[in-house]
Amino acid sequence: MITQKNVNEILEIAKIEDIVEDFVNLKRRGANYIGLCPFHNEKTPSFTVSPSKNICKCFGCGKGGDPVQFLRELENFTFVEALKHIANKYGIKVEEKELSAEAIAEKQLYDSLYLVNGYAKDFYYEQLTETDKGKSVGLSYFKQRGFREGTIEKFGLGYAPASKADFTNAALAKGYNKKLLKRLKLTNQYDGDFFRDRVMFTIRSVSGKVIAFAGRTLSNDKKTAKYINSPETEIYVKSKVLYGAHLAKKAIRQADECILVEGYTDVISLHQSGIENVVASSGTSLTEGQINLIKRYTPNIKILYDGDAAGIKAALRGLDLVLEQDMNVKVVLLPDGEDPDSYMQQVGITAFKEFIAEQAEDFILFKTNLLLAETVGDPVKRAEIIKDIVSSIARIPDPIKRSLYVKQCARLVDIEEQTIINETNKLIAQNIAKGRKKRQINRDRTSVGKPAPSGDRSFPSAPPPMTEGEQLPPDLVNRIRPVDELNQAVGAAYQEKDIVRILVSGGSQIFDEEEKITVAEYILSNIEDVLEDFDNAGYGLIVNEYHQRLLKKKPTDHSYFLNHSDEKIREITTSLLTSPYEYSPNWEEKFEQPLRTQKNPEENFTEDSIYSLRTFKQKKIHQMRLDVSDKVKVASEKGDFDEMMKYMKVKKKLDEVYNELALQTNTVVIK
Ligand code: CTP
Ligand code: MN
Repeated sequence: MITQKNVNEILEIAKIEDIVEDFVNLKRRGANYIGLCPFHNEKTPSFTVSPSKNICKCFGCGKGGDPVQFLRELENFTFVEALKHIANKYGIKVEEKELSAEAIAEKQLYDSLYLVNGYAKDFYYEQLTETDKGKSVGLSYFKQRGFREGTIEKFGLGYAPASKADFTNAALAKGYNKKLLKRLKLTNQYDGDFFRDRVMFTIRSVSGKVIAFAGRTLSNDKKTAKYINSPETEIYVKSKVLYGAHLAKKAIRQADECILVEGYTDVISLHQSGIENVVASSGTSLTEGQINLIKRYTPNIKILYDGDAAGIKAALRGLDLVLEQDMNVKVVLLPDGEDPDSYMQQVGITAFKEFIAEQAEDFILFKTNLLLAETVGDPVKRAEIIKDIVSSIARIPDPIKRSLYVKQCARLVDIEEQTIINETNKLIAQNIAKGRKKRQINRDRTSVGKPAPSGDRSFPSAPPPMTEGEQLPPDLVNRIRPVDELNQAVGAAYQEKDIVRILVSGGSQIFDEEEKITVAEYILSNIEDVLEDFDNAGYGLIVNEYHQRLLKKKPTDHSYFLNHSDEKIREITTSLLTSPYEYSPNWEEKFEQPLRTQKNPEENFTEDSIYSLRTFKQKKIHQMRLDVSDKVKVASEKGDFDEMMKYMKVKKKLDEVYNELALQTNTVVIK
């Protein structure tokens, strides 16, 4: 535990730009810095660092925060780890408070378990690379499988000798505690080695600590287990571990996708070939803990299945859990008899990448097709499989996504959409009822002071049912209108006018004393990306010219525009400066925007520009939302599912941004 005084000291000294700079190439822009977002892949920088507020934020993906939050998100640090990182950077000494005796004992136990495992890893690696037997048996095996030396070291591969107790004896001679060796099952109950004559795989936590081992036999004897694994311990909770996660996390975040394979060797092989966003579930179907681990980095999973169809159906069932978590799942079926490792070795990286990009299929559609294939010429059976498909669809929390799947599946199975909707609603209702019951049980448990066991999940996200006959949610259907009509409805130019009015009349005023920026700098830096998109050509001209002059550091005020060579601009400027500012007649009604009861705007340019900027942005985004909805509709009519999904995603993002603005302007939030 770090003392509170120490915590405060560390928090005070942490400068956001220093912290971020270690990870992001920053360029100065006005009072802020800007760079490429470390949380998602982008080509134009939208990651902004504000020294005065001591925070950072990505305007693309929304991630960011203060120095501690930034480190926690990016490096997956705990609060304390983030503090220690900062302390270390600024050379502050971390004063740790005395822990309770119990906490000390626990920490010591964990530390010593890691320590023993670390020793074991080194031992097996040394056996592999430095002993005759290890080299001739283990190393040659790995090499024959195509693993390079760097890879072998990176993944901590090793060899456990065939002798009875070489490892145990060596560890004891080094002073490692026998009880701990047994607790980790590196040593068996007869004081001999647990792993013998096997090549070894080191299993690590997300942060890279050695938590367990797997040993693979090299014998073909059917009676020998192919892999044996360390038992679960305080430091190894199988259901929460993904093999390779510590090496994959950065790449997963950058690719915004996690590739999931089954085997250790698959991870190693892909990683070595340059596909680094890959982890293994180690042969079991995905657990909730593992899904949560992936979810910290991306909502997108691509699962590569070996080419024998036998196990696939069972594996698919486990995936409903992933759908419940609102993750996007794609599935790739490898050619018959191949696993990711063997296929990569066979065709090479380029063909491999092409294959998984081309073959990736949406999970539910994949499942539908797979089940359909079994029912060829059997209409009764075809009806039966609908239940199975519907059970998957009913788990998707997002109603928009759900209705897209219903449409697509109805087409595939060649059945009335309404039938699927009805079935889905039935199931959702059941799920909700189940969830209620479970929550009730949990409540009862808690009320007698016993917490619900952690494995016991109520239905947290039982999605709302769809109404009859509905294809897209009414929210969308109602809003799909031509843009022109909309412009008329809300008076598109009013917000543009407001922005230009402030620019022309008060652009050179100081916006923020502390940051020493002007109103014009504030407004223009915030609307740079929509400068081209002004609906009103005249306002567009003024804004862009102002922007150009600002970039060239030329002073600009209303007299410049009043004396402009372009008559139209002179006219607009005059009208802007003489008319009291006005609102769209529909504005208040449409957005339930409370009108400002404000003094003369000239008295407060700062407040005025913040406000106008927000409503301006809100308006622009609203318009984009409608455009995107249009595109969704078109794609839906074409039956282009991928396209639909793409625009749905954009729409969701826009809704989020809109809602954020709406919260700031006190307007209506879209559900
Ligand atoms: N597995 C296991 N115990 C077994 C068999 C398999 O724990 N007896 C797990 C391992 O995590 C293994 C994964 O299931 O990596 C996939 O099994 P398999 O495809 O049989 O092994 P590979 O990893 O492909 O190993 P290899 O390529 O060497 O056959
Ligand atoms: Mn394999």
